[in-house]
Amino acid sequence: MAMAQTAGARGRPGQCGRCGRRWRCGRRTLVACVAWTVVWVLAAALLLRAHPGVLSERCTDEKSRRILAALCRDYQGGALAGDLCEDLCVAGRLQYRRCLYYERGKKVLQADWRGRPVILKSKEEAFSSFRPPGLMEDQAEDGGQGFPEAELLLLVAGEVKSALGLELAAGSLGPLWPGRRGARWRGQLASLWSLAQQEEFVLLSMLHGLSPHAPPLLGSCGHFYAVEYLAAGSPHHRALFPLDGASRGQAQAVSDMALSFLDLVRHFDNDFSHRLHLCDVKPENFAIRRDFTVVAIDVDMAFFEPKMREILEQNCTGDEDCNFFDCFSKCDLRVNKCGAQRVNSNLQVVCDKIFRHWFSSTLQSSAISFQLQRQLREAVQECADPG
Ligand SMILES: Nc1ncnc2c1ncn2[C@@H]1O[C@H](COP(=O)(O)OP(=O)(O)O)[C@@H](O)[C@H]1O
Ligand SMILES: [Mg+2]
Repeated sequence: MAMAQTAGARGRPGQCGRCGRRWRCGRRTLVACVAWTVVWVLAAALLLRAHPGVLSERCTDEKSRRILAALCRDYQGGALAGDLCEDLCVAGRLQYRRCLYYERGKKVLQADWRGRPVILKSKEEAFSSFRPPGLMEDQAEDGGQGFPEAELLLLVAGEVKSALGLELAAGSLGPLWPGRRGARWRGQLASLWSLAQQEEFVLLSMLHGLSPHAPPLLGSCGHFYAVEYLAAGSPHHRALFPLDGASRGQAQAVSDMALSFLDLVRHFDNDFSHRLHLCDVKPENFAIRRDFTVVAIDVDMAFFEPKMREILEQNCTGDEDCNFFDCFSKCDLRVNKCGAQRVNSNLQVVCDKIFRHWFSSTLQSSAISFQLQRQLREAVQECADPG
């Protein structure tokens, strides 16, 4: 505090510079200069930690608007389509608000759609980054109109198989299916193709209407798909998630979220034909609804059992070669191959990466007894690391 005051009173950068040249300033001025520099470096570091996107040229409004303008140009030209294109490109009912995230091509934009906040997401910023559907080459003259439905279904099912490792029944493609053929069929097909190359979109299509813990798909335009805007987690929040609207107090909110995480784990373990493994568990990849339901907003690293087995089964010389982010298996040294079976669980990782923060820290409420706090801490410890 005292240092900050000194710095505020005297330590303008220009003065630091003069101090250095003449070397007549006293020790106090030198200390003030150093303090001033330290304060600025710290502030910049904090800003970067909180908003890593600020350094990314591409997470600017200008760049984001340019990307959406290109999307709309392609829509007007018939190269792409989607149920949100009209609202985005013609009616002005889907309006860009801000860029939330850009990394390695992945774009996450916030927008308002008919009065509600939504997220527009794509793995790549440009439509042209996606592989076009091969069938279009043979059917170029009629825009793919003549392509038989059954063959198209097979092709899409093939994409799903490669993205998720799942064999699908024809009727279960959900939002992935482009609907009836109209004047924009060529754009519809190309858009379907760009979306089918995004594992997250394919998985969300499969979970659509089946899970309270996955964001419902609201629609798409070209290679961008829209999901609900939710209150995303961050390690910078005291309780990992923003609790501004929590009227019943933090302890109650944390207990609601913890129960919802347990329900999510039970649901992903048991409620589908294959277990769904979460291999990237961190606060940023989850969000909460107003009622504190936990939602997995980043499912790029969520895999159903068959795909998980495929990923884990690698060559190895030790167990450390068999760790795929939060999903581990063991190295069989006789054959130098990782076991296909995951050896840790979603629950273990949630206990380790989320619950430990809540129940092993000073965040604990005085509303529960000391003994109960200790029991909770021990339970979370055992859950995270049963060994
Ligand atoms: N539905 C959403 N609601 C609010 N914020 C979101 C949503 N989806 C993503 N975000 C924000 O964007 C960030 C990056 O999205 P994410 O899908 O996790 O990208 P990546 O796969 O590159 O980690 C998230 O950590 C979150 O802050
Ligand atoms: Mg993420």
